[in-house]
Amino acid sequence: MVKANENYLKLPGSYLFSTIGKKVREFGEANPEAKIIRLGIGDVTQPLAPSIISALHSAVDEMGVKESFRGYAPDLGYEFLRNAIAENDYRARGCDISADEIFVSDGAKCDCSNIQEIFSLDNKIAVCDPVYPVYVDSNVMAGRTGSYDAKTETWSDVIYMPCTADNGFAPEIPEKTPDLIYLCFPNNPTGATIKKAQLQEWVDYANKVGAIILYDAAYEAYISESDVPHSIYECEGARTCAIELRSFSKNAGFTGVRLGFTVIPKELKAGDVALHPLWARRHGTKYNGAPYIIQRAGEAVYSPEGKEQLKAQVAYYMNNAKYIYEGLKSAGYTVSGGVNAPYIWLKTPGKMTSWEFFDFLLEKVNVVGTPGSGFGPSGEGYFRLTAFGTYENTVEAVDRIKRANI
Ligand SMILES: Cc1ncc(COP(=O)(O)O)c(C=O)c1O
Repeated sequence: MVKANENYLKLPGSYLFSTIGKKVREFGEANPEAKIIRLGIGDVTQPLAPSIISALHSAVDEMGVKESFRGYAPDLGYEFLRNAIAENDYRARGCDISADEIFVSDGAKCDCSNIQEIFSLDNKIAVCDPVYPVYVDSNVMAGRTGSYDAKTETWSDVIYMPCTADNGFAPEIPEKTPDLIYLCFPNNPTGATIKKAQLQEWVDYANKVGAIILYDAAYEAYISESDVPHSIYECEGARTCAIELRSFSKNAGFTGVRLGFTVIPKELKAGDVALHPLWARRHGTKYNGAPYIIQRAGEAVYSPEGKEQLKAQVAYYMNNAKYIYEGLKSAGYTVSGGVNAPYIWLKTPGKMTSWEFFDFLLEKVNVVGTPGSGFGPSGEGYFRLTAFGTYENTVEAVDRIKRANI
């Protein structure tokens, strides 16, 4: 008889944002007059930049003409996009990454959940706590995480690296040696980041113990400080220990357009096995390429006008981040993040749990955020607000929270 993949049954509760969505929907139905402001999920609100719209239009036109029509895209992405990425995201920052080490995809969520497939099930993963839930859940589905302890909200075979106020929300090298290390900077959910020297320590450590770092740089466009690395390949030795995951969702507003990429250097190995051919094989077998139209839109991100327009878009969101950070700080909240990232991480007031504060904000001021505990046990007592709302909503939400005077 057919059997389901029982690893899926081990997943506790529903995906964090589904739970939040349900709560907000129910509250909205019961209180139709409430003007709910959503600063929870990290989705963008600003329209696509004009240069991207124009690239989309012309690519659509090309698809309507026999001579320029395109069918399946190359598995690993069109050369024009991979060249633009290699040039602008890597060579311009002094990183030695070539176009054929870049694998174009339809976003970082798929890549960071699928990448574990090319590694043995015996590998031990290490994750930050709190963490973007996809890293852990995808390993649960694969059967790599052992058993779940509902009391501690942890998996027996996962190494957790607490990121707390005491360590500046930066993970420390764990006592047990991991095989795969998930790092995400600028960080979702804490908005924290680490300096280049700190990242270099991780690269040196991974090379020493033979581990691989899965480096999620989805928020690199939000970096404002000069000593914060945009790519792990800025560190010496990263080519032999790191895979980098990138997204067009946050730097260019592609959350609904869908585009991302993964970088696997040619010399990166797991034991004796080169990983580049494995991911190429995986891509070729399970993926038929991001659409031509979307890859042309991605190329426009790197045009002079695109760069200018997107710089302004990032600045718009970071202005929101500043408003939230300063507004809540002046109201007595303990806040962090928001300087190199579009997330503000705040301590819940009094002795409120993360979910109690979520309910309080939803019911009293109709503002939706994300409970820190949803990202892991060390997130308990914290709350995440995103800067991705409109400026007007951001101002209104912060003013409402301040007026709630908790
Ligand atoms: C850390 C991190 N990685 C990846 C993603 C997913 O990006 P994409 O929209 O490209 O799938 C997100 C989205 O919120 C994220 O926060």
